[in-house]
Amino acid sequence: MTAQNSKNQLDVTIVGGGMITYDLILPVVYHLQRTGTVKDIKVCSLDTPPLKDLKNSEMISQAFPGQDFSAFPDLSEPEDKKFPDLYKEVLAGMKPRQMVIIAMPDQLHYSVIMEALKNDQHILCVKPLVLEYKQTVEIEKLAHEKGLFIGVEYHKRFDTRALMAKKSYELGQLGEFVIGEAKMIEPYFYRSSNFQNWFTCDKTDPFVYVGCHYVDLVYFITGLKPVEVSVSGIKGKFPNGNEGYMWANGRVRFENGALLNVTDGLGYPDQAAGSNEQNLEMFFEGEGKSGMIKHDDQFRGVQYAYLEGIGCAGSSFNFVSPDFFQLIPWDGDGLKPVGYGYMSVAASVEMAQKIESEVQALSDEESLQKRQQMIREVDEKGIIATPANSYVNELVVEAARLSILNDGDVVTIEYGEQPSISLRQK
Ligand SMILES: NC(=O)c1ccc[n+]([C@@H]2O[C@H](COP(=O)([O-])OP(=O)(O)OC[C@H]3O[C@@H](n4cnc5c(N)ncnc54)[C@H](O)[C@@H]3O)[C@@H](O)[C@H]2O)c1
Repeated sequence: MTAQNSKNQLDVTIVGGGMITYDLILPVVYHLQRTGTVKDIKVCSLDTPPLKDLKNSEMISQAFPGQDFSAFPDLSEPEDKKFPDLYKEVLAGMKPRQMVIIAMPDQLHYSVIMEALKNDQHILCVKPLVLEYKQTVEIEKLAHEKGLFIGVEYHKRFDTRALMAKKSYELGQLGEFVIGEAKMIEPYFYRSSNFQNWFTCDKTDPFVYVGCHYVDLVYFITGLKPVEVSVSGIKGKFPNGNEGYMWANGRVRFENGALLNVTDGLGYPDQAAGSNEQNLEMFFEGEGKSGMIKHDDQFRGVQYAYLEGIGCAGSSFNFVSPDFFQLIPWDGDGLKPVGYGYMSVAASVEMAQKIESEVQALSDEESLQKRQQMIREVDEKGIIATPANSYVNELVVEAARLSILNDGDVVTIEYGEQPSISLRQK
């Protein structure tokens, strides 16, 4: 057996070829291919234009010379022809217990996850996993029965500063979380992207889209569960006339009474140093004193003034993050991806591959038991987000949608045997 076979490389199918696939997922998967974790790569999209962007990307081909993926639909298909169900055929054609990465609009995650589970695939899904808590429960149960691993791509958990805060909080060095503020304002130019086709008022909003990162992070750091959510939105029109929430403000109360205020939007100025706005400030109560953490997640100390407008949204002066995701020179071919975005995607793919490597020599029954046990260990460790350890996010997302569609009314979350949400009666 060769070294690579003994590592049991995984085939990976990415469903969705949009921005997150271009900026993060495909580069990470290419790197994992050249380091021996991943074997064949397929990308399935609704139509051919995003696949062509991925194939023709100078950034990607410079970083990963000679690497390629199989495109679905075939690139010879007309650009305006849509293939909404093609992913089902592609997933049905995979060998069992490989990996499916889901990177498509939020409201489509559930159907693709169920299809991937039906076809016995391990999964990495971009956040939010799904938009309803009962769907998380169904997914978690089915995945457990089949011994399939599911990671949810909350990459902020892999930022060193978040892991440091988690450690300090757990050691009692900060006190008890009492009040905090977070912000995540995505660039204005998102309004003219494919977002205008799916980021509509009835489907999602800035709180659900990016605010959920900071709610997850506060839960990750403190272990406190959110119990009350109120989100108000401000509507606007996309260039194609669709109406969406362009801004949102959410207030989340946690089980110990602590409050987190989260401001989100699709409106960070394109002409500013960007690429977006993001930060977290938390205050804590101690004995006779208070504690604090303050994370500036936007300006990470690096400023570039380019000769040409090659920065975010065509800008010349940029705050560049060395921490999230960069392609940098290394001693191998092309460039190497680094940062917490890389670590987060890689952690789930490597976990699925590790699980499969450990069960290769086992009987079917032993293999199932071992996979279930390894998945439970990941759930309990709580570093990689999984349906079992990040389900509070689905409750928050569901509560947030109910609140924003009711003009900011308070929605409560009850954690009984069957957690539930309800609109508080006025
Ligand atoms: N910070 C983050 O964690 C982060 C950042 C960006 C996006 N995301 C998440 O990633 C997901 C996608 O976002 P994006 O920015 O890439 O969006 P996007 O609009 O750029 O891309 C969506 C892609 O889905 C594809 N798609 C739609 N329907 C399909 C179908 N039936 N079959 C196959 N492909 C289909 C489209 O062709 C497109 O390529 C969303 O859930 C979003 O919340 C997460």
